Amino acid sequence: MSNYKTMTTAEIRENFLAFFESKGCKVYPSSSLVPSDPSLLLANAGMNQFKEYYQGIKTMKEIGATSCQKCLRTNDIDNIGDNRHLSFFEMLGNFSFGGYTKRDACTWAMEFISSPEHLGLPLDRLYFTVFTDDDEAAEIWHSLGVAEDHISRLGEEDNFWAAGPTGPCGPCSEIYFDQGPEFSGEKPGDDGDRYLEFWNLVFTQYDRQEDGSMPELPHRNIDTGMGLERIAAIMQHAGSNYEGDIMTSLIELGEKLSGKHYQAGNEEVDRSLRILADHSRAVSFMIGDGILPGNEGRSYILRRLLRRAVYHGRLVGIQKTFMAEYADEVVRLLGDAYPELVEKRALIEGILTAEEERFGTTLEAGESKLEDELKKLTGDERLSGDVAFLLHDTYGFPIDLTREIAARAGHVVNEAQFE
Ligand code: ALA
Repeated sequence: MSNYKTMTTAEIRENFLAFFESKGCKVYPSSSLVPSDPSLLLANAGMNQFKEYYQGIKTMKEIGATSCQKCLRTNDIDNIGDNRHLSFFEMLGNFSFGGYTKRDACTWAMEFISSPEHLGLPLDRLYFTVFTDDDEAAEIWHSLGVAEDHISRLGEEDNFWAAGPTGPCGPCSEIYFDQGPEFSGEKPGDDGDRYLEFWNLVFTQYDRQEDGSMPELPHRNIDTGMGLERIAAIMQHAGSNYEGDIMTSLIELGEKLSGKHYQAGNEEVDRSLRILADHSRAVSFMIGDGILPGNEGRSYILRRLLRRAVYHGRLVGIQKTFMAEYADEVVRLLGDAYPELVEKRALIEGILTAEEERFGTTLEAGESKLEDELKKLTGDERLSGDVAFLLHDTYGFPIDLTREIAARAGHVVNEAQFE
């Protein structure tokens, strides 16, 4: 398999934005994690801030836009801790609202990934998927030099993209990197680690309505998203989202604070260090964008992430108040790209410490209460919703924390009763 060069996260971010600027796209700063679109709780994609351009309500004089967007997705919070999922991530994207075409988007994507001035990835390690009947996309990739057996078709679940239940959406084409036969996995789109999806090109052409109908948007559009942590890991010859330079620095901080070592044979320790790296970064950015811990909506998401991080800090053996040290490292690593972190550093650290101390006073008592209750359970008996509610109400345990601790003891929570 062909080899390729190495790039840092900062180099990739800069190179990407400059590349699309050279194509005539206007560089936009990331919008806040708090979206202006009321149908969304948190920014989840680069296209969010451009919704009205897709809908034809606003127009832009440039042929399109490019950005590196702060995103937060917590729909699979329970999976965070494996070596793949992240809650907060950076998404590189380029966008067109009728200004440049699908063929331009694919041609530029190919130039960016294969040219030595940019990513310089070898074609024999790249795979492309297209939506079921999208012959046009398949033909474009083929015309750009992609072999037939590196192009495959996937259905609605993988190759149709929407930011939420309503709004601009459309079929997409994904680009995958082949990590090599030593990784598990048979083909792009499966659950294995061999083929990593790193760039999604959405051909946004519909505007899904409340009633499910999908009228055509006024023009054919482009919305692409490349997970920066994912491509950074690839460009640093490491497969996992947690092995790029930024996440590695945060994991190293966890090692220093806990005295434990990452990837030294203890999967529980590794998991906690990854959760700490992920959640500490997410909560720092959330507070930086004005979200405060609370009991509803995005404030509750912040509280849950923060409390879960505090719990994993204790679990991995950190004795002292520590969240502010993570925030400090987040600012050091990402403050150049996101100046709001530098500006809000004192606020971020103050809020984190206050919340950490508050939860710290009930965490131990709640945990021992929960352990007592778990000991009383036999076989596959469920933890009662009443106990989960007491933990929630009196000890400040978000349900996902109770669920996680119960799962470790082999029990599930009666969540219907909790509700
Ligand atoms: N908006 C598209 C995504 O998030 C590019 O995958």
